[in-house]
Amino acid sequence: MVPNKFKLAVLVSGRGSNLQAIIDSIEKNALQAEISLVVSNVKDAYALERAHKHGLEGIFLDPKSYPDRNSYEQSLVEQIRSKSVDLICLAGYMRVLGKHFIEAFSDRIINIHPSLLPAFPGLNVQKRALEHGAHFSGCTVHYVNEEVDGGAIISQAVVRIFDDDDETSLSERILEQEHLIYPEAIQLILEGKLTLAGRRVLHNK
Ligand code: GAR
Repeated sequence: MVPNKFKLAVLVSGRGSNLQAIIDSIEKNALQAEISLVVSNVKDAYALERAHKHGLEGIFLDPKSYPDRNSYEQSLVEQIRSKSVDLICLAGYMRVLGKHFIEAFSDRIINIHPSLLPAFPGLNVQKRALEHGAHFSGCTVHYVNEEVDGGAIISQAVVRIFDDDDETSLSERILEQEHLIYPEAIQLILEGKLTLAGRRVLHNK
């Protein structure tokens, strides 16, 4: 019997280059998973086009067509539950998820963020790293909890900041690393190689 593939839902809002990195890793068999659903909160997100090009189900769920955040998130929960996914990957999903959604998928939601957390959570992080005069930045894959960019850290990659960097050049070099560490982190989770112990993510021996 062929074992069931590990199922992912990917939530997006924009360009979708991290979604593409996950798709590419699956197609190269470096990631033994399948994407069961892509959901965007933005109608014309290029990420949805990427999903459709690869024959994936990609839907736009409009937050504005729900009376409040809870009902929007309930609908998101139902869409995702209907696919029996194992893990939810936020890939440039630019909406803060509330308690309702997070509790529905406790410890099964991860995110990629373009800084070395806990430095620079939130928005405009590459600009803020430059303005702060940081010498290093990078990216972080982490579990999602109710605190913005605050969950336990799964993996990180460090990126040197050079004197002549601007927001664009730094973002590009960080993004290259994002595309490597995100699929790798998903593969570690699906292989059961990680244990979540409070704030720490331990690599099983
Ligand atoms: C990525 O840099 C990702 O880390 C960031 O948005 C970009 C999405 O790019 N996410 C966040 O800032 C979340 N806090 P993509 O749509 O090309 O994957």
